[in-house]
Amino acid sequence: MKKLEENIFLIGFMGAGKSTVAAELERQLHIPRAEMDALIVEREGMAISDIFAEKGETYFRDAETALLKDLTEKKGIIISCGGGAVMRDENAALMKQCGKIVLLTATPETIYERVKDSTDRPILNGNMNVDYIRELMEKRKDRYLAVADVVVATDQKSAEEITREILAAF
Ligand code: S3P
Repeated sequence: MKKLEENIFLIGFMGAGKSTVAAELERQLHIPRAEMDALIVEREGMAISDIFAEKGETYFRDAETALLKDLTEKKGIIISCGGGAVMRDENAALMKQCGKIVLLTATPETIYERVKDSTDRPILNGNMNVDYIRELMEKRKDRYLAVADVVVATDQKSAEEITREILAAF
């Protein structure tokens, strides 16, 4: 891979492996990584589920947009995005402008297995099941695919394998 002059955005549904793969990319490429969710938690001083419960989803989405604007002032970083960040047109446009977008996918069954014990996925509160995951994934699929430069399926693959596929595609 050539010297990274843009950013790499990792997008995809909750549990698609964005954070794990971002860490592996950072390890292999020696390029700094930004975790959007972790940075929002740091900025707000609250867990994601508390932000949703106490301030509401729109507040969270605004925080996400503000963070993305700040992060894209830099070049050459790996940005692991929250699963819903790319759904805002403004955010999707900014990502397209500022880097390569890698979409990680997995089946609803795989996603369920990965997130079922999570207590900090407010979007799935009360709906932690394969059918709901499939339904929400269906609603997001077109946007995910429309913005992606590279698509990598992650089912039954290690972070190393996924990272190899990403780097081969660049
Ligand atoms: C969300 C995904 C989460 C987090 C928030 C909302 C979503 O991030 O940003 O709970 O709408 O898909 P992960 O994709 O890292 O779980």
